[in-house]
Amino acid sequence: MTQKIALVTGSHKGLGYAIARKLAQQEEIQVIVTSRKEQDGLAAQQRLAAEGIQTDYHPLDVTNAESVQQLIAWVQQTYGRVDILVNNAGVNPTMQPEEASLLTVQLETMLATLETNVLAVVRITQAVLPLMQAQNYGRIVNVSTEMASLTTINNDYYPLAPSYRLSKIGLNGFTVLLAKELQGTNILVNAYSPGWMKTDMGGSEAPFTAAEGAETAVYLATLPDHGAQGKFFAEMRKFGGAIALAW
Ligand SMILES: NC(=O)c1ccc[n+]([C@@H]2O[C@H](COP(=O)([O-])OP(=O)(O)OC[C@H]3O[C@@H](n4cnc5c(N)ncnc54)[C@H](OP(=O)(O)O)[C@@H]3O)[C@@H](O)[C@H]2O)c1
Repeated sequence: MTQKIALVTGSHKGLGYAIARKLAQQEEIQVIVTSRKEQDGLAAQQRLAAEGIQTDYHPLDVTNAESVQQLIAWVQQTYGRVDILVNNAGVNPTMQPEEASLLTVQLETMLATLETNVLAVVRITQAVLPLMQAQNYGRIVNVSTEMASLTTINNDYYPLAPSYRLSKIGLNGFTVLLAKELQGTNILVNAYSPGWMKTDMGGSEAPFTAAEGAETAVYLATLPDHGAQGKFFAEMRKFGGAIALAW
């Protein structure tokens, strides 16, 4: 059996770690843990190994073109394929007071947020897609948030958070455009909202664990052929199944 090769960005902690852990528990998937600091990723790999979960590791800073190139060259040489890409790495400056209003938001902060949450996703997807196209198989999962739903933005209870919201709205737009370009292929791209989770980003008050938030990512990363394409999913656990959110 040929194992599927899964890349999870930002997977040494938080949601990315939980997604890597769940995917790596499936025998047919070889997960590559990635992190920008090598010691973080190697420590994560060791924590998984202590549980009997085998993974591989490679450094990755998603905002650095050279780092992305090095990862892809290594994965191509080592495995010759990428089957699953989970775009999880993200930043969220919402706790900064300037993020409470569009009148005070700092454009430098917005640019840095867009760079990690949108442009870096475009960059790594561009690098991975040729490998997926070569085998006409791929599952791309973009980690978004329900805060980016334009349909519910007027009624939700979240902070204004312009940098974060605009970045994830951009990520959602990228998901739809990519799905349009991939129509008719067996490369499926979808976005999902993991819910509010106890991570460094979500804080300790959050109601859900990263492991719970990872469930939908695993579902989307292992979609069968002819599965969902270009959709925005809610965290399945909340609804007991795969539910599409309004964009
Ligand atoms: N927590 C929530 O409640 C929540 C809700 C909805 C959506 N999300 C989304 O879920 C994803 C994961 O968030 P989380 O809660 O797990 O946050 P987290 O604990 O802060 O983890 C963020 C991850 O992204 C990585 N990262 C940031 N910039 C990077 C870069 N340039 N290159 C490589 N990795 C980078 C971080 O690595 P470093 O340690 O090196 O910074 C870390 O591994 C994000 O996309 C976030 O927007 C979270």
